[in-house]
Amino acid sequence: MIYPIVAYGDPVLRKKAQHITREYDGLNDLIESMFETMYASNGVGLAAPQIGKSINLFIIDTTSFEDEKYPGLKKIFINAEIIEEQGERWDFEEGCLSIPHIRENVKRHPQIRIKYVDADFNPQEEVYDGIAARVIQHEYDHIKGVLFIDHISELKKRLIKNKLTNIAKGGVKVDYKMRFMPIR
Ligand code: NI
Repeated sequence: MIYPIVAYGDPVLRKKAQHITREYDGLNDLIESMFETMYASNGVGLAAPQIGKSINLFIIDTTSFEDEKYPGLKKIFINAEIIEEQGERWDFEEGCLSIPHIRENVKRHPQIRIKYVDADFNPQEEVYDGIAARVIQHEYDHIKGVLFIDHISELKKRLIKNKLTNIAKGGVKVDYKMRFMPIR
């Protein structure tokens, strides 16, 4: 099932997402639907809050960025916690399915260590770098209620303010399904 992507302006994107247990109702179907939703919108990552569920679950598929150095990574992260970030921060232009048509350079550390449970709730601890680390950091931010635009300068924030308001009001056209807040 393809979910509509929650647009910027919805408070669910600002909530701190909750851990889940293996008893979470319909988890496997939800994960499958998240992949379907992500591929339908050509995303490389998707966090549960972006489909309106405030739970600590995100998926990534970096296959489209694959090169000799960094093989593509398709992965499910549940109850994730980034426990270490290392190296000199580097710029990369990010976008977000919830914030269409806005792209900005974001500085992040190149290497992370992350703890999480996989889809079978087996605990994992892994180190990532390259694009995989970048996408994980972006999706992990969603779990914390943080968006990539929070990392840009005050000046840049001012420059995109009108665009953001427009997105929140539903005045943006995309080729995937989105969910906007009702107009107040
Ligand atoms: Ni995003």
